[in-house]
Amino acid sequence: MVGIDNNMPNQRYIYTFRRDYHNMELCKLESRQLFGREVEDTFLFSDVKVDPSISPFIKTRFEIISSSQNYSSLLKNIESEKIKIEGFKAEYLVLDGDTTQYTERLEKLKDIGYRIDGLPDYYSPTVIYALCQYKETWHFGLLIKHDTGWYKHKTKPYSFSNSINMDIAKSLVCIASKGNKTHKLLDACCGVGTIMLEACVSGFRIVGCDINQKACSNTAKNLAHYYYDALVFCTDIKDHNTPYDAAIVDLPYNLFTYSNDAIALNIIESSANLAPRVVIVSTSDIRPLIEQSGLKLTDLCTVAKKGKSKFSRKVWICEKEIDLS
Ligand SMILES: C[S@@+](CC[C@H](N)C(=O)[O-])C[C@H]1O[C@@H](n2cnc3c(N)ncnc32)[C@H](O)[C@@H]1O
Repeated sequence: MVGIDNNMPNQRYIYTFRRDYHNMELCKLESRQLFGREVEDTFLFSDVKVDPSISPFIKTRFEIISSSQNYSSLLKNIESEKIKIEGFKAEYLVLDGDTTQYTERLEKLKDIGYRIDGLPDYYSPTVIYALCQYKETWHFGLLIKHDTGWYKHKTKPYSFSNSINMDIAKSLVCIASKGNKTHKLLDACCGVGTIMLEACVSGFRIVGCDINQKACSNTAKNLAHYYYDALVFCTDIKDHNTPYDAAIVDLPYNLFTYSNDAIALNIIESSANLAPRVVIVSTSDIRPLIEQSGLKLTDLCTVAKKGKSKFSRKVWICEKEIDLS
């Protein structure tokens, strides 16, 4: 990295976000878990490197190569990088508060283009360089965009009226793993595999479990449809005995699948026996059950359903307390 002036946020990455009002709380929870900090606006500076495609809310990751409060100095910095690449593209990333007009933005992109040795390719670039401004400071860097390939799961062959929606499923994978793709994940009540599909498309290792034979069979067919090779165990979670780094538990809601406190407690306790970090989704307040299971609640949020429905889900982040005595 070259030419960093003083008095600037000196984090290495800028993430931009897009989320609907009903997902605002989930996006904030995800940001607290991934970056240790809540996203307040539509962007966030961080030193934490996360693949933007694992989150339903992250639009881009901007990797800062050079920053300066003086635009001419920034251009000199870019020149001194001696970038030589064919098929590049330059984009202007407009952050909230940046009032640079369109024509000026285009001029500035030409400035960038002239300082890169190679022919540009606007339609299928090999790499995207970007320019942005925040609080009088100019940043030049690499832009990594969110891959929307996971939208294909909208038409998965087997669905279920009680399935969690794809945005929430994707965010749960992010939250449970904290973005670490080496973590081994468990979907303890996989239903038709909505959460598993989102883990698989992003390259996470995940195993599913469900007590219901039909649910397991439909999950297996959904996974096979996209050529994902994750395993599904058709068993009560209490009888599963492989350890994981984190478990995701979408509890039965007592709508289409019967549930009561004893059933929910069995699922939570069994998951806690398999993983030190358990992310639970429920439709009711399960605080007493979390306490009984011996897990410690570390964070939570409420996710409202789109539209006027009063139905909402709660996402509980729980961890096992480590006995240091
Ligand atoms: C709310 S649904 C999960 C839906 C799933 N996330 C999806 O998107 O399809 C809860 C699931 O928990 C399963 N279940 C209930 N008790 C269980 C247990 N003891 N062990 C494993 N799965 C269980 C049910 O069969 C049901 O499929």
